[in-house]
Amino acid sequence: MKIRVECASITEYKCDLLVVNEFEGVKQPGGATGAADKALEGLIAKLSREGEIDGKLGKVTLIHCHGKLKADKVAVVGLGKRDKFDLEAVRTAAAAAIKKAREVKAKTVATIIHGAGIGGLAVEEAAKAVVEGSVLGVYKFAGYAREKEEPDFQVETLILIECDKKKIKAIESGARLGLIIAEAENHARDLVNEPSNKMTPTAFAKLAQRIAKINNLKFVSLDPKAEGMDSLWAVAKGSNEPPRLVALEYKGNPKSKEKIALIGKGITFDSGGISLKPSKKMDVMKSDMAGAAAVLGTMSLLSDLKPRKNVIGIIPLTENMPSGHATKPGDVVGSLAGYTIEVVNTDAEGRMILVDAVTYAKKRGATQIVDVATLTGGCVVALGDAASGVIGSDQKLIDKLLKASKRCGQKMWQLPLYDEYKESVKSEIADIKNTGESGKASPSTGAAFLSKFVGETPWVHIDIAGTAFLEKEHGYLPQGATGVPVRTLIEFLRD
Ligand code: BES
Ligand code: ZN
Ligand code: ZN
Repeated sequence: MKIRVECASITEYKCDLLVVNEFEGVKQPGGATGAADKALEGLIAKLSREGEIDGKLGKVTLIHCHGKLKADKVAVVGLGKRDKFDLEAVRTAAAAAIKKAREVKAKTVATIIHGAGIGGLAVEEAAKAVVEGSVLGVYKFAGYAREKEEPDFQVETLILIECDKKKIKAIESGARLGLIIAEAENHARDLVNEPSNKMTPTAFAKLAQRIAKINNLKFVSLDPKAEGMDSLWAVAKGSNEPPRLVALEYKGNPKSKEKIALIGKGITFDSGGISLKPSKKMDVMKSDMAGAAAVLGTMSLLSDLKPRKNVIGIIPLTENMPSGHATKPGDVVGSLAGYTIEVVNTDAEGRMILVDAVTYAKKRGATQIVDVATLTGGCVVALGDAASGVIGSDQKLIDKLLKASKRCGQKMWQLPLYDEYKESVKSEIADIKNTGESGKASPSTGAAFLSKFVGETPWVHIDIAGTAFLEKEHGYLPQGATGVPVRTLIEFLRD
């Protein structure tokens, strides 16, 4: 889908579908459509009085123009309640409108910028949110089906219309930002939706190398076994697929010693290993590399966005499989940091690969660490798919991340890291064990395990087990991979 910005009057604009909007509970609309056209305003007012248009967030009402406007059809999209209106509502409304456009097979779609006029949002931010909602909203994983009932219809062009010339520059800049950020998040979705026989550690590493090359990022791809990453290797050794650890580095402020490490869990399939998972829904465990995909998606944008920061993306990649070569419950293994680990449960593998990545990050000079992982089922129990869990050692860093997440509508909720959780991962026979007490606070005990390896470095951990992959679509989030939390990481780095 191409995005264009034009300075024009909406009623004069020729397109297949014109998108205007309405707040909830408005019986006498005036100007919310941004329409200079009295006939259209009158019709919307009538439909609002009759209740066909109710302004509920994301509800779309279609009006056929029969030659009365230059547009073939008009879609009136609800913005929800005025006092709850924000950028997230803009994204949701834009996604609903573009889905309707696809449904009615509109090739060229013109939209007003929701919130830029009567909604009171900053014009650039509103334009960014319209584009984000639209691009994220039309996402569909291409997949491998050879037989389709009908070919997928694509909206060809989305035109953002604004009649005030003074606003055009800000809209163009917002639209450009929104487009590259949403495309990166869609790319992350693609990687996660890809089946695990295609998205192997080797395939992922090759892709990371290609992305590094295109974006001029320093790149290394390491063999974890040869590097002494014994904890990562303990997870990998049951699989036939060779593991990898890749790092991509962006230097936006070469004079500074500060370096942010983004670490993404890259389990390309999590069977649980010898502590085998139940077979029900095990297929979803192809998404256990969603943290890795989000980190790669974020790194792919930095040379475009040029934040004045140094950032290293570190991605440990492996499958977690049972076999005669696999690590067994009760085994004790080493790690890059030197600590010995008692592997009580081979299904708690994410933390095992993350800790070697953490130690590697510190060796590469990281001064702040953010890790992203589909780490625990307990996080899904606590927060469902509504929010990701956030746990860390540095409240300032945590607050900065939570603020970034709020701005882009990717909900996150902080969970604690009490000393009790650190106690619960103490082992009788090794320096640490990989699980706490079964069924108790697993997001926090998982983080407690990580914290021993993080040490004093300011650190925040994002558990995306519930938010990375959805059973059913919701607003601009599709069924399957969501791309969470690419937008939050970008926002965090741009701050
Ligand atoms: N990949 C899973 C966590 C997960 C669960 C992600 C559901 C997405 C949806 C992780 O490796 C895992 O199995 N964690 C265990 C840890 C436990 C053994 C301490 C869990 O949560 O059951
Ligand atoms: Zn697991
Ligand atoms: Zn896992």
